[in-house]
Amino acid sequence: MSDSTDRLFEEGADRAAYVQTMFSEISPRYDLMNRVMTLGQDQGWRRRAARAVVQPGDVVVDAGTGTGDLALACLDAGATRVVGLDFARPMLLRARTKAGEAGRAGFALGDATRLPLPDASVDVWCSAFMVRNIPDLDAALREAARVLRPGGRLAVLEIPRMERGFLQPFARMHFTKIVPRLGRLISGHGSAYTYLPVSVDHFLTPREFTARLRLAGFEVTEVRQLMFRTVAMHIARKPLEDTEVR
Ligand SMILES: C[S@@+](CC[C@H](N)C(=O)[O-])C[C@H]1O[C@@H](n2cnc3c(N)ncnc32)[C@H](O)[C@@H]1O
Repeated sequence: MSDSTDRLFEEGADRAAYVQTMFSEISPRYDLMNRVMTLGQDQGWRRRAARAVVQPGDVVVDAGTGTGDLALACLDAGATRVVGLDFARPMLLRARTKAGEAGRAGFALGDATRLPLPDASVDVWCSAFMVRNIPDLDAALREAARVLRPGGRLAVLEIPRMERGFLQPFARMHFTKIVPRLGRLISGHGSAYTYLPVSVDHFLTPREFTARLRLAGFEVTEVRQLMFRTVAMHIARKPLEDTEVR
C-alpha cells in the first residue's frame, strides 16, 4: 500500500478531487477492468440491484453513474426515466455513447452530495461502487433521502470492509496484490487500483453501512453479500410520512 494513497484519507486531504481526476483518467479502460477484476460478475450484480428496487414507470437517479451500467440496468428493469449523475465528465461521455439514442436515459454532471434535483422527485435512488469514494458519506445519504419521494427505494452496491473470517485473507490478497497489478496493466494508471484496496480498508462493514442508512432515516429491507462477501448490496426504503423507522 502506498503512503501517498493513505494520505488521501487524512484530515484536510482533497480526496474528492483525487477521485474525480482518477476516474476521468481511467475511463477508457474502466469497463474492461471491471469485467476482468470481477470475473464477469459485475453486470449481474447491477441487474440484481436494479430488479430489487425498480418498478415499471419509475423515475430513477443513479448517483456516481460512471459509464452508465447501473442506469441502463434500471431501464431494462422497467424504469420510465433514468438520470445518471457523475462528477467525472469522461465517464459520462462513455455512458452517453453506450446509451446511444435511448432517450429514456439522461446523463449529466452532478455531485452526489449536492444533487441538482428537487425534493421528493424520484422513485428510486441507486448507486454502484460510489459511496466508498465519498468523504462526506452522510451528506450523500441525506441527499438521497431528500430527493426520494416517501416510500421511494434505495439500492447501493459497494465493496465493504470485510469482517474477520476465513475468507478475509483471500479477499485481501485479491484486492491488495492482484487488483493493483491487473489495474496497472489494463488501465495503465499508476495509483487507481492501489487506491481501491486502501479505500476499502477505510470504508464500512455491511453492518456499519446499515447503521448509517438507518441514521439517514431509511428502513433497511435487505442486505446481501455477494462474491464471497467482497460485494454488499443494501436495499432500503424511505418511510412514508409518520411511520416509524425500524
Ligand atoms: C467506481 S466508479 C462506479 C461507476 C458506476 N456506478 C459503475 O457501477 O461502474 C465510481 C464513480 O463515482 C463517481 N463519483 C465519486 N464521487 C462522486 C460524487 N461526489 N459525485 C458524483 N460522482 C461521484 C466517480 O467519478 C466514478 O465515476
